[in-house]
Parts: sequence; structure tokens; C-alpha cells
Amino acid sequence: MLTVLITAGPTREKIDPVRFISNYSTGTFGYEIARQAAKRRGVRVILISGPTTLPAPRHVRLIQVESAKEMAGAVKREAKRSDLVIMAAAVSDWRARSPKKSKTKRRGHAHKTLELVENPDILRSLGHRKGRVLVGFALETGNLERNALKKLKEKNLDFIVANRLTPKKTVFGPGRTNIMMIDRSGDRTVLRGCTKKELAKIILDKAFNINI
Ligand code: CTP
Repeated sequence: MLTVLITAGPTREKIDPVRFISNYSTGTFGYEIARQAAKRRGVRVILISGPTTLPAPRHVRLIQVESAKEMAGAVKREAKRSDLVIMAAAVSDWRARSPKKSKTKRRGHAHKTLELVENPDILRSLGHRKGRVLVGFALETGNLERNALKKLKEKNLDFIVANRLTPKKTVFGPGRTNIMMIDRSGDRTVLRGCTKKELAKIILDKAFNINI
């Protein structure tokens, strides 16, 4: 049995009991990868997900988390037993330095500054380990290839799936999208106008072809 660990969705970083920092990720891509992986014979799938409105894929162990720190803890624990890790989650890079226990009131705060501290880089801290394949995602608004290559090297990945966000074309949610995959040997594959289901299968084929 091979164990595949997938992360999906955004994280939420609490400011106070009613407010948070997050991003536009819907979890669609990660959930689709989990769904397609679970259809393969001899594969056990663990999906670690930030808050989404998506139904849990069948035959997948779903672990729900909220913040980047919670996601980091769950990934660290589950990655030990995983043969393939695909980090599709849009992890918030910062969190509030001092989340408040009670709701911050508006009165007297015409201007307000929120101090943020950096969250752990989950993927980078996993590091490359023999026998475990590591796949990352990169979402860029410019210099797609250069930034994705940098992440591939810095995070020591087997390959990276990069997509570009433009003012005209969203990559969030269902719908067709374009990706560029870059692997350790520098091989590039560009796929245009594909559904996330089609892309999920291609990403899994490539990952399973590596050495597991
Ligand atoms: N990632 C992670 N932990 C973080 C931030 C990102 O594990 N704190 C992972 C994402 O799941 C993704 C990859 O790293 O697989 C790249 O994420 P991205 O947000 O594009 O890049 P960052 O490293 O955060 O760089 P930047 O935001 O500066 O582009």
C-alpha cells in the first residue's frame, strides 16, 4: 500500500474571535487530486484541508485544520508515513502576532495597524528524504517560471506545479486552467485549458513515475 498525503485549501489566521486573515483558495485542486488518487489501486489517501465548502472525497481520510500552524503539525505527523506528499494548500505566510481573546471594537480605532509574524514554511521544513516524493505548487502573478524554479530548488522538490493569476483569469475554484510543471532535471511541461480533474491525473502520473 502506498500512502499519499495531500494538502488543500486556504488557512485561516485568527485576528480575534470573529475575524481572520485568509486567501481566495477554494481547495478544488487539492480535493480533485485526492479524489483521483483514491481511485488508484493500492493507494491510501490522507487529505489535510484548511476550511473549504467542498464535500469530503470518498475513500479519503480527511483531517480538517484551520491555521498554518495546525496544518504544519498535521503534515509533520502524517508525512512520516507517506510515500508521496503533494502540497496544494494555499498556506497563509503570516499570522497576527497577538490574536485577541475578545472582539476588537471599532470605536477609537479610525486607523489600526495589525502586526504580523511569519508562519513556518511547511513544505520547506519537510526536506527531501530518500524514498519520499515531494510535490509543491506555486501561484504567481508574474515571472512564473523564474519564481517556480526558485521554489523548486529552495524547497528541494521533485517537481512543482506553477500557475499564473492574472486580473482577467482566476485560478481559484472549478474551471479550466493552465499550468507549468518543472522537475528537478529542469524538464518543463506546459498544459493549457485543462480541467482540474485532467490535471490531477497528469500530476499523479508524473509523481508515481518518479520512484515509488
Ligand atoms: N507552502 C508551505 N508553507 C508555507 C507557504 C507555502 O508549505 N508557509 C507551500 C505551498 O503549499 C506550495 C508552495 O509552498 O506548495 C509554494 O507556495 P507559495 O505560496 O506559492 O510560495 P511561498 O513559498 O509562500 O512564496 P511567496 O508567497 O513569496 O510567493
